[in-house]
Amino acid sequence: MELCEQMTTADEIVSQVEQMVDSPAPRDEVLRYAVQVLKRERERYNWVGIYLIKHDTLVLHNYLGKPTEHTHIPVGKGVCGVAVAEGANQIVGDVTTLDNYLACSVETRSEIVVLIRRGMNILGQIDIDSDLENAFTREDEALLSRVADQIARRF
Ligand code: SME
Repeated sequence: MELCEQMTTADEIVSQVEQMVDSPAPRDEVLRYAVQVLKRERERYNWVGIYLIKHDTLVLHNYLGKPTEHTHIPVGKGVCGVAVAEGANQIVGDVTTLDNYLACSVETRSEIVVLIRRGMNILGQIDIDSDLENAFTREDEALLSRVADQIARRF
């Protein structure tokens, strides 16, 4: 018997989301499911949410973690808004060093934002906070990009 449980692989996570995307479930449910799977399968992910772009604002669609006041973020503001303005994913190892950081929780130490795109269009983003410093690597970015690509098929 294994002493510690094996972590669910990126392939397994992507495949779970892919199945939901291919199911008849409505888009809102698919977006909630993606957040649930990521929160459940990665202990370091203390806050997981999806924002969607409406006009020039990121609007929080759903999340798991502590409640946040940042349900509407203008493009260009905070780590989330900068990701959209620059058209680039963001990995912040230590959020306490940032001037433009919008704090959701005092415990948060690091953050990753991965854009949800379809072609040239940015549809939204997956935003994840961790209470651990430097919690996110290029591997997390690769996993979240694959999840984002699945989600994008529903737009
Ligand atoms: N920290 C983000 C705001 C969203 S919360 O992390 C949930 C930012 O600086 O844009």
